Amino acid sequence: MIDDINRIADAAAERARAAVSLDELRAIDAEVLGKRSEISSIKQRLGSLEPEERRQVGKAINEARAAIEEAVAARRAVLEAAARRERLEAERLDLTEVVATRHRGNIHLVTQAMQHLEDVFVGMGFTVAEGPEVESDWYNFGALNFPAGHPARDMYDTLYLEPSATGERPLLRTHTSPVQIRLMESRQPPIYAVMPGRVARRDTADATHMPVFHQIEGLVVDRGITMGDLAGTIDEFTKAYFGPGFSSRLRPSYFPFTEPSAEFDIRRPDGSWLELGGCGMVHPNVFRAVGYDPEEWTGFAFGFGIDRMTAQREGVHDLRDLFTNDIRFLRQF
Ligand code: PHE
Repeated sequence: MIDDINRIADAAAERARAAVSLDELRAIDAEVLGKRSEISSIKQRLGSLEPEERRQVGKAINEARAAIEEAVAARRAVLEAAARRERLEAERLDLTEVVATRHRGNIHLVTQAMQHLEDVFVGMGFTVAEGPEVESDWYNFGALNFPAGHPARDMYDTLYLEPSATGERPLLRTHTSPVQIRLMESRQPPIYAVMPGRVARRDTADATHMPVFHQIEGLVVDRGITMGDLAGTIDEFTKAYFGPGFSSRLRPSYFPFTEPSAEFDIRRPDGSWLELGGCGMVHPNVFRAVGYDPEEWTGFAFGFGIDRMTAQREGVHDLRDLFTNDIRFLRQF
């Protein structure tokens, strides 16, 4: 009888180990350990045995059940792990294709340059201000000491809009200098600000000219500001933006809104020069136009074009490439 029990136990454990699914294992479990299993029917016959034999057979039955249960549990662990892996695999979201085929955009080269310039000036203690692109004659010229009919207006090939009902001719600002006026009108000195933005001039697009381009303007108004402060600020900026091996120089020039006026050039480490922009001490008439007392306040201003400078730095030979939005070009930066 004990041999029968061991044989039954071995066969049951073997079937459990061979189960290929959890459903099959549950069926085997019920069959070999349940009420109608061979083990159960032997157990029911225990009562008819002699006490000593009953003890031994009972012990063998318990051991057989334990061995079968252990085999079933071991197989269940294996099958459950496999089922879990299968479910995870089925539910997995595969995003590789999306990531691989989608191109992330990048910031336009000119915008990158503007942001970099703003960062450099903010690092030097300047704030950033902006103004409208459509301006009146007063902000673009009059308040900047260009009287009506003044020949200096010819420096700017101005694009005009349709006259308004009052006969005023709005224009596309030809430089960022009108933002100086708006800023001074809106607050009292001291002012340490830079003003980046888009400007327009009547020009035919070619490799070195664009009718629309970008400038950044700087304005300082405080007590006791000198030409030395201007030269020092330009040189400080030159080193911070271009690198420590670069330096700057001023050359006499003329703008109606600054006196004295200068052009400033950047000297590259190889000794070559880049003509960058204009600058000068704020003209007393400009202070008068915004209601500042020119006996009390002094200041300087500077301004330069961003597009041409950036094109030079990056080896872009045609300015039009900055505006045609060819993604193959823009993606390089
Ligand atoms: N606004 C001038 C221009 O566009 C540049 C400039 C700015 C010159 C500030 C002097 C001071 O030509």
